Amino acid sequence: MPAHYDLLIRGGTCVLPWGEFAIDVGVRDGRIAALGAAGATADRVLDAAGLHVLPGLIDPHVHLRDPGDPAIETIPTGTKAAVLGGLAAVFDMPNTSPSITGADRLAWKQDYVEQHAWCDMGLYVGAAKSNIPELAELELGRGVCGVKVFAGSSTGDLLVEDDASLEAVMRSGRRRVSFHSEDEARLQARRGLFKSGDPYARHMEWRDEECAFLGTRRLMALARKTGRAAHILHVSTAEELEYLGLYRDVATVELLVNHLTQVAPEVYEQLGGLGVMNPPIRGRRHWEAAWAAVRDGTADTVGSDHAPHALAAKRRPWPECPAGLTGVQTLVPVMLGHVAAGRLSLARMVDLMCAGPARVYGAVGKGRLAVGYDADFTLVDLKCQRVIENDWIVSPCGWTPFHGMQVTGWPAATVVRGHVVMQDDEALGSPVGRLVRFRG
Ligand code: DOR
Ligand code: ZN
Repeated sequence: MPAHYDLLIRGGTCVLPWGEFAIDVGVRDGRIAALGAAGATADRVLDAAGLHVLPGLIDPHVHLRDPGDPAIETIPTGTKAAVLGGLAAVFDMPNTSPSITGADRLAWKQDYVEQHAWCDMGLYVGAAKSNIPELAELELGRGVCGVKVFAGSSTGDLLVEDDASLEAVMRSGRRRVSFHSEDEARLQARRGLFKSGDPYARHMEWRDEECAFLGTRRLMALARKTGRAAHILHVSTAEELEYLGLYRDVATVELLVNHLTQVAPEVYEQLGGLGVMNPPIRGRRHWEAAWAAVRDGTADTVGSDHAPHALAAKRRPWPECPAGLTGVQTLVPVMLGHVAAGRLSLARMVDLMCAGPARVYGAVGKGRLAVGYDADFTLVDLKCQRVIENDWIVSPCGWTPFHGMQVTGWPAATVVRGHVVMQDDEALGSPVGRLVRFRG
């Protein structure tokens, strides 16, 4: 009797941790049951001929704004965008309105996610000066991928900026803690140097390289002192990347697709407020350093930092325009475009978007194609040529900083624990998302 599966992914090229193989994948009960399933039958067959079968890609850094303003984004819309863009899981930030800093709001969100999310989700809990003693317990909550600390201020009201409070956060709990690293004192001190209506490119002068470096140097000293591993989100300067290389015992590194794709001053000249994010997109030297960090292994993860704002707000003069760019739907196409351009291999992309997030955050059953792991897959067509357009974006705010970009490589299907949730640009079925499990 040939083996029978719930789902068979047939005829594709699978990207396994140890190489690429033309094998079929059998799925049973939402898990990978066989790698190599020739001759098997299944209730459903997904034709992957001509496609590469990747482990379900993960975006470890999104802001889905829920609770907040549904005209901008919600968990249902943001996770639908995720699966349309080829993501099987996203980890969502806590700087919502109100923010996720306590057990009650976390409980609400855990419940809500499992009814309305299209993909699996990890949830960050926000650190505030008022909840430091609770963090050790909160970080072990269901679906919690870790604590997020804004050590420099950005969108929302979360901020823990002084050394004593940062040290107290690091001593409260033991899992990896993720940081927005910009030096708050320098940010505030320099704010008065600029005025309303200045060119958008002044954003990177205000939040300059020194601001980022000071923040990261301070956090690394505290990480060594406390022995607590720190994940530095959206590292944006050559200087920080070099410095973090000396701290790999306590440091992991996230890069953003924007910092790998867009450079200043062009981005501000072309996009105005639609190029404004924290930390800023900077000059070519930093873009080159980010790619060097992809090549030499300094980078552990790549995320989108999907941070939607209303288009009208983004069109305000600087600095009244809020910082943050959409990206959850475009992360995979843009990264595949970089693969096609030869900037990184498909294997390294999978390392950064699957194994990397699983390793850094301790996700259980995610991040690789292996028997017993969750049946999460992203099927990609490496040859497909497409232009990214605002029309394609399903986030209610309706815009992308990559509008008009031509890419080679496109997600053809997304599978979440055996459910085919996207095929050929259509979201299928209904939301099946669950909370990701993390090691305690
Ligand atoms: O540009 C940003 N936008 N950086 C952040 O740190 C927050 C984010 C947002 O939530 O808008
Ligand atoms: Zn962010």
